[in-house]
Amino acid sequence: MFPHQDAKPGARPLRTRITELLDIEYPILAGGLMWLSDARYVAALARAGAMAFITPRSFDGPEAYRAALRDCSRMAGDRPFGVNITQSRRAAENAMVAAWIDMALEHGVRCFETVGPSPERLIAQIHAGGAKAIHKSAFVEHALKAEQAGADAVALVGAEAGGHPGTNKLPSFLCGALALQRLTVPMALGGGIGDGRQIAAALALGADAVVMGTRFLVSEEIWAHENYKRHLVEQPAEASTLAMRASGNPWRVLDNATVREIERLEQHGARHYAEFGALATGRLGRDHCYRQGDWNTGLLSMGPAIGFADAIEPAASIVARLMAQATQAASRLASMATPVPAVSADAALASRL
Ligand SMILES: Cc1cc2nc3c(=O)[nH]c(=O)nc-3n(C[C@H](O)[C@H](O)[C@H](O)COP(=O)(O)O)c2cc1C
Repeated sequence: MFPHQDAKPGARPLRTRITELLDIEYPILAGGLMWLSDARYVAALARAGAMAFITPRSFDGPEAYRAALRDCSRMAGDRPFGVNITQSRRAAENAMVAAWIDMALEHGVRCFETVGPSPERLIAQIHAGGAKAIHKSAFVEHALKAEQAGADAVALVGAEAGGHPGTNKLPSFLCGALALQRLTVPMALGGGIGDGRQIAAALALGADAVVMGTRFLVSEEIWAHENYKRHLVEQPAEASTLAMRASGNPWRVLDNATVREIERLEQHGARHYAEFGALATGRLGRDHCYRQGDWNTGLLSMGPAIGFADAIEPAASIVARLMAQATQAASRLASMATPVPAVSADAALASRL
């Protein structure tokens, strides 16, 4: 039986090093979603037994971010929630990073999803505040470096991941298996995961959790326009594409008119983000699609896991379905591992005659 509302603390059917590290019920991390993972969404996942992450960059200034932390603490009750710290390659855009971490610590946040280059300083600050750092990357080598830098766990996302999977072209489960040959800290695996059977598969591989984004885009608690969510429910797994390939920082998004306009400009030689103007900014999608429902405008982060999104429903219902599928698949695997009764040489010979 799985809850359709709040997960009951202590109900841990698939217990892992990450569920223990973060004190969560289920091995599901809902990675930060730029513009979308606000207090309501993050708290809904916390209450459902997963861990989600507020994205400070989504807010208009520190006061709005602080208010989101306060609201999320209240709405999550006693369940833990996290903050995503995505570092930009442009130093000027990281000016607030240390302050964002401090504010989160003041509001009781005990887990951070860090992303981007050189996380050492962030990890030191997070540890000094008594919290845990999970560093997310798209390359096995970067995950290993994060482990050396002191990350408590790593999240590895393959080429299927919605958003910015980096230039890594390898699929998630291949990256995960390669990483697990060398990692010692717990690992969450992500990219293209939208069904509970994949959660069981990731755990069977040796991962301690999954990280998911796209599948939760159709949660009732996601504030984006209803027309966009209805459109997403109808999309097959093939509906995503990789935009901005020539830039060196590709972006996995919903295939739409903006993607085709970007491709047209690339054919005319445009390469860098600045050359595409407003077209390649997240704000375009926020203003036209998330706010107004026009899913043809903006680069809208999304991956092939959208093929599993079949209804707009509360995040807790999605988590409950995922966990029911995962435990069923894990039981199937466990039953296959039951030792086959030894067959005597005589009986084996008789069966062949
Ligand atoms: C709409 C959307 C926005 C995202 N924004 C961010 C972000 O701001 N920072 C980040 O680290 N990851 C971001 N991601 C990536 C997710 O946190 C997660 O790693 C990814 O979605 C997992 O792959 P999946 O989409 O195949 O489930 C975003 C993903 C989506 C779908």
